[in-house]
Amino acid sequence: MNKKKIDIFDTTLRDGEQGPGCLLTLQSKLEIAEQLEFLGVDIIEAGFPVSSPADFKAVQEVSKLIKNAKVCALSRARELDIDTAVNALKNAVCPRVQLGIGTSDIHIKNKFNSTRDDILAVAFKMVRYASNKIEEVQFFAEDAGRADNLFLAKMVENVIEAGATIVNLPDTNGFCTPFEYYEKIKFVIENVSNMHKAKISVHCHNDLGMATANTIAGLLAGASQAEGTINGVGERAGNAALEEIVMTLIIKDLPIFTTVDPRYISKLSKMVEIAMSNPVQANKAIVGRNAFAHSSGIHQDGVLKDRSNYEIIDPAMIGFELPDLILTARSGRAALRHRMEILDIQFQENEFEQYYAYFLQVADTKSIVADSDLIDLCKSRSRKV
Ligand code: KIV
Ligand code: ZN
Repeated sequence: MNKKKIDIFDTTLRDGEQGPGCLLTLQSKLEIAEQLEFLGVDIIEAGFPVSSPADFKAVQEVSKLIKNAKVCALSRARELDIDTAVNALKNAVCPRVQLGIGTSDIHIKNKFNSTRDDILAVAFKMVRYASNKIEEVQFFAEDAGRADNLFLAKMVENVIEAGATIVNLPDTNGFCTPFEYYEKIKFVIENVSNMHKAKISVHCHNDLGMATANTIAGLLAGASQAEGTINGVGERAGNAALEEIVMTLIIKDLPIFTTVDPRYISKLSKMVEIAMSNPVQANKAIVGRNAFAHSSGIHQDGVLKDRSNYEIIDPAMIGFELPDLILTARSGRAALRHRMEILDIQFQENEFEQYYAYFLQVADTKSIVADSDLIDLCKSRSRKV
């Protein structure tokens, strides 16, 4: 099968940082950008330069640092925003400006008090303006998720005509289901006459918990670029988590692929978690601390026989140092025996059942039985066995 390469667009430093309480220092932004480059993402969105002097500086410094990935800066459909973004990107090896405007009727009426025709005209004018200042222009059709598909197709054709070579169709409010988003992307691709001159990008938010599923659906419908953030950080319920998109592309046999090197995912996730003081939920897919933890007896026994019984990803693929089995009240004999052997706790075979009974008594009083608990338990009980 001839597979198509998907560009991975990271927006941890821009949309991710928009999450409440997720502000990053310049130093953290540079460290994260460097790791993103090791990870091999294709584009790093570094900030929104007109929004503050600190964001301008961040885009400027990331532009100087990054050599392989493209560096993108956000802008509204306004001349001052575009000029400021172009200026901040001056030192980037491959700069890109992403500018856009609301495209749903809700945004057109309630945000801009405008009309579809006027919005089309502003978008055309500003994309043309930006295209005269910088080679690569990405347009975002904000709230595309709730926009009328026919109007969206008209908008996409309009901005490609004006010079955009990437068109982002964000599900800004995480409103779509995967099937709806698939149909939307497919409809646009099939109904835009100059589509061959541009790529479609997908950018999904997680308000209904479907951001990753929607992203994959959009890619399967024909989009060529996926946008997301590390740990899924971002406005409200966040953005599509980049690690989930990347690992889906890597482990599933799909007609699309990424060149991202997943071995940096675990480190980057920790780095973002600490820099944003934004703890990753324990059961978060791929990077949560329980993502590779097995607690029940049936699962632990299966994992001890062969990890693939209950793991679809080898944790080493994402650079995750595997914790050993966690002992809880749901753990079975196989896990207890395994842990006792690791801790070099000597026991007679005929004593084991008694140890297991004592272990369960302790486990019923604790959520996790630590190694120290196990050692204490075995020491105190060995006098009595
Ligand atoms: O969610 C969104 O619509 C955005 C755009 C600015 C790309 O983040
Ligand atoms: Zn967004």
